[in-house]
Amino acid sequence: MRKKIVAGNWKMNLNKNDSEDLVNNILNHLDDNFSPQIIFAPPYLFLNNVIELCKNKNNIFVSSQDCSAYTDGAFTGEVSAKMISSYDISHVIIGHSERRKNFNETNDILNQKINQAINNHLNVIFCCGETLSDRNNGLYFDVISDQLLSTVLSLDKSKFSNIIIAYEPIWAIGTGVTATADQAQEVHAHIRRIIKDKYGDAISNKTSIIYGGSCKPANAKEIFSQDDIDGGLIGGASLNYKDFISIIKAF
Ligand code: PGA
Repeated sequence: MRKKIVAGNWKMNLNKNDSEDLVNNILNHLDDNFSPQIIFAPPYLFLNNVIELCKNKNNIFVSSQDCSAYTDGAFTGEVSAKMISSYDISHVIIGHSERRKNFNETNDILNQKINQAINNHLNVIFCCGETLSDRNNGLYFDVISDQLLSTVLSLDKSKFSNIIIAYEPIWAIGTGVTATADQAQEVHAHIRRIIKDKYGDAISNKTSIIYGGSCKPANAKEIFSQDDIDGGLIGGASLNYKDFISIIKAF
């Protein structure tokens, strides 16, 4: 059975008090038997508070939004995977399009980060996705294959088991424009196919592939009901507890 996941990527938003209110509100409004895994990905500074608030809660996990490509040493401002894994943090997001674009993260850097994460036993939420012009030019399958084959899909089979793929079409991130359920399903099925070609049926059938890009209460149910979509990586809507709860309940 593939894990169903709803992850909230807060990006660089909120302050200490807002972040505590957000988590408390979400925890207070969750049904006892909610089904998906919930992952909170706050900025570094709030991670420890969120860990404390979520202590002993079943099926709730905490993720870092990034980690350094380096192990340790003279890298002012960086946070290593080793530091992250010394807290109760189980996941790290790597390859987000905002980091690729705004911080020039190349495949080489992403591969270093993936290795750091895996060596420190973190689960990786690895993002991929095409631009609007890639889509309009019919190149989106190729672009996504390239992004994956040169990074997470170059790992040894044994290392791939802790990878979650997030399909995040760049044209849908933070724009209010969402991929239709059919568009998302088409790409998720493609991703599952290339995982199968590389690692075989068993691994491809158990890899969670989640959708990100203006996922919100109004469209979550339809998106999550698609065969190859195992949840969402939610940006804007994860900052509002009512929206985030509605998305969780969309399963
Ligand atoms: P969005 O962001 O939901 O605000 O579009 C998703 C993401 O970037 O992870």
